[in-house]
Amino acid sequence: MTRGARRPAWFLQMIEVVPVVNQAEKSQATYGSASAEALLKVAVLGCGEVGTQVVRLLLSQADDFTARVGARLELIGVAVRDVQRERHPDISRDLLTADAEQLVKRADLVVEVMGGIEPARSLMLTAIEHGASVITANKALLATDGPTLYEAADAAGVDISFEAAVAGAIPLIRPIRESMAGDQVKRVLGIVNGTTNYILDAMATTGATFDDALADAQKLGYAEADPTADIEGHDAAAKAAILASLAFHTRVSINDVKCGGITKVTAEDVKAADELGHVIKLLAIVERVPCGDDLPGCEKVSARVFPVMLPYEHPLANVRGAYNAVFVEAEAAGKLMFYGAGAGGTPTASAVLGDLVAAARHRVRGGRGTGESRYADLAVLSIDEVSTRFYVKLSVLDRPGVLATVANIFAKHEVSIDTVRQVIVPTAPGGSESGEALLSLVTHEASERALEATVNDLNNLDSVQSVRSLLRVEGA
Ligand code: NDP
Ligand code: HSE
Repeated sequence: MTRGARRPAWFLQMIEVVPVVNQAEKSQATYGSASAEALLKVAVLGCGEVGTQVVRLLLSQADDFTARVGARLELIGVAVRDVQRERHPDISRDLLTADAEQLVKRADLVVEVMGGIEPARSLMLTAIEHGASVITANKALLATDGPTLYEAADAAGVDISFEAAVAGAIPLIRPIRESMAGDQVKRVLGIVNGTTNYILDAMATTGATFDDALADAQKLGYAEADPTADIEGHDAAAKAAILASLAFHTRVSINDVKCGGITKVTAEDVKAADELGHVIKLLAIVERVPCGDDLPGCEKVSARVFPVMLPYEHPLANVRGAYNAVFVEAEAAGKLMFYGAGAGGTPTASAVLGDLVAAARHRVRGGRGTGESRYADLAVLSIDEVSTRFYVKLSVLDRPGVLATVANIFAKHEVSIDTVRQVIVPTAPGGSESGEALLSLVTHEASERALEATVNDLNNLDSVQSVRSLLRVEGA
């Protein structure tokens, strides 16, 4: 160990108090003991889309990892549900085990890529209690109960790292947490779900149906085990919670994120967006907002995920396929953009292995990665108070006075209309008028509360047949 470097609590406990693990089974590489023979035992939980690539790359680049870490990383096992299932040819069946709990107790470094809340949480806690550092890609768990894991890691003096949990291969967690630690982040806005971006892009560019595009995204390994998490926005909401917590030094859980998915986005919406010079993207938006004029200096956090219309010229409008892109706006740095592969086994494995190398270096040289910071302790803004622009499409009766009636409802709730477009619906292409008109309105900024009240009143008008579409509009 370097002179003066602080030993983690678990290390002191092991050598000076009660050994919590069987030392003979643990690695020879302890803090500061880098040598040619030093080794660190690595356990991987999960051998699916991501785990397979983590294991493959770990084995095939073993010598590079030894050189970069200063100790050999020995893969001691890979936990799966079904040890009989055929795996990648590079992964020996001898490595597979169904006994994840015993595996984590023997490891110095545990990579969790099994997903889900349980048993992932219990296994990571067991690993931490037994002195292992943990690397996870599990955004669902971190956004639900991350603090339990962070506190356990702090108490044990080990690392918990999760670069892969947000935006796949893109280095984003470390830049926000470390490179921007001297700045004040104001807003993070991004495409953080590859599956939904793949679907929306395919609908807009190839005319693919929602179902066909989702099936392709599943085949390509982008979607979660249950793709509902992707298409209903829950995956992006988990990532928004993680980003808000990091960026604003406060605790934000997935329950604090207002979330809407893309299941209601229709081919008609995609076409309407195109006619307005826009595309539809599922965006995660987290920002610090002032509490109000009566509370100077007070700020709250807003965190939300919605399908939004973005103008073609917006840089996020051109993010194609399963790619992700994230804007970070900070007081001093200004606007930064991060772009890259947001999903898929190999790109995600890159981020996982980056964390593994960093955690392994800490084991060899001493020290820990940066932990959770929540000193700001900001309250979360109610979604009702969030202001944005809206696109509303109405099916109305084609009668005199209907436009004025509709406009009056917007005015009643102080929602100012920016543009209106009316199309008279023919009975058939080129046929006579059907008595129905389609009104497409784009508003100026209005609160979610005002817009909801407007839509409720519109639904009660005899002249309004239906509210066919409601989308948020971002980017001037
Ligand atoms: P998969 O569903 O492809 O793989 C999950 C793996 O975990 C399987 O090998 C499965 O075993 C194993 N597993 C699941 N439950 C258990 C259990 N109870 N005990 C033992 N093993 C278990 O998931 P992914 O690889 O796609 O995702 C893994 C994690 O990475 C998730 O948290 C996901 O959110 C995250 N992630 C995924 C990305 C992606 O592009 N796929 C990108 C970024 C993050 P078996 O093979 O026997 O069924
Ligand atoms: N299902 C996720 C996505 C994987 O599509 O983005 C990456 O987190």
